[in-house]
Amino acid sequence: MGFTILGTGKAVPEYVMTNDELSTMVETNDEWIRTRTGIEERRICKKETITDLTVEAANNALQNAGIQASQLDLIICSTMRGENITPSQACIIQREIGADCPAFDVNAACSGFIYALDIADGYFARKKVKHVLIVSMDNLSNIIDWTDRSTCVLFGDGGAAVVLGEGDDLLSINLTSVGNDEVLLIPHGTNSSPFYEHEEKRAVLHMMGGEVYKFAVNAMSAGIRKSVSDAGIEMSDIDCVIPHQANMRIINASAKNLGIDREKFFCNIQHYGNTSSGSVPLALDEANHAGVLKKGDIVAMCAFGAGLTSGSCVIRWNK
Ligand SMILES: CC(C)(COP(=O)(O)OP(=O)(O)OC[C@H]1O[C@@H](n2cnc3c(N)ncnc32)[C@H](O)[C@@H]1OP(=O)(O)O)[C@@H](O)C(=O)NCCC(=O)NCCS
Repeated sequence: MGFTILGTGKAVPEYVMTNDELSTMVETNDEWIRTRTGIEERRICKKETITDLTVEAANNALQNAGIQASQLDLIICSTMRGENITPSQACIIQREIGADCPAFDVNAACSGFIYALDIADGYFARKKVKHVLIVSMDNLSNIIDWTDRSTCVLFGDGGAAVVLGEGDDLLSINLTSVGNDEVLLIPHGTNSSPFYEHEEKRAVLHMMGGEVYKFAVNAMSAGIRKSVSDAGIEMSDIDCVIPHQANMRIINASAKNLGIDREKFFCNIQHYGNTSSGSVPLALDEANHAGVLKKGDIVAMCAFGAGLTSGSCVIRWNK
């Protein structure tokens, strides 16, 4: 027993920050950002909290699925930036939407949505659930170093949710982790202990862009290849790829490696930048509402991120 996707819903902050506006903050320009990343603008939280966004996405997904919050058996929130260290963001979502079921968070950085899908699949396999809500949302704008032009141009806030029901539309799923805190790291903030003897690192995103780039292209190519093989299908059977929206050049290079028509990759990076774990479901939701996905389509999804983690899967779109 696997699952089927019953509905999707997104939530993004209102404020649109263009490349030109960023150019007034750090030494960069629209042309550099567009040609090196494909990003034209991103959404940044001003008024919205992560709770506002996660709850909005959850309600939108429930509405799209035609499911009441009371019918949910499990809520998983994939995020690095929950409102609190504890309680989990999933518990806050549960209260706000009026559900009555177990709820917990998962942190696999930008791969979090695929990790959450795999966890949910286990609950369906054990017949413990009939309906699961996954909300994937990050607001990295509050841990970006806004003076570092090599990272602050890449990220944006936002994400989306999906509602899963019983079905057999997950054809394969694969996760990987390679422990590494050198190439991509966001340390915790202040340590309140007067006894702690270690030096604190600055609580902002640190990244070796070139190293992450190489990891990303390999992870996307190997992940999709394995998921396609595990699903027992051919690369040519894929109708649509929903890739992690980190850099358009990473997507282009992966498409070339895999020999999949670039036109089949759904991209919205130009409007949102990299929204971390929100990225794949945000693209899935927009592909859903734009009518890009047709009932019966074979869809590959893949993501990569800090950890270093990666995740890929193949599903049948059945909505
Ligand atoms: C970050 C990234 C866009 C950099 O692109 P790149 O083509 O490798 O650029 P480089 O790092 O080689 O930098 C080239 C030059 O541009 C400069 N540069 C960096 N950021 C810049 C910016 N925003 N504007 C203008 N110039 C910039 C660099 O300082 C460097 O100048 P130099 O040659 O004088 O030293 C790219 O490596 C990348 O996307 N990596 C993956 C990041 C990622 O996906 N992270 C999230 C994972 S979930």
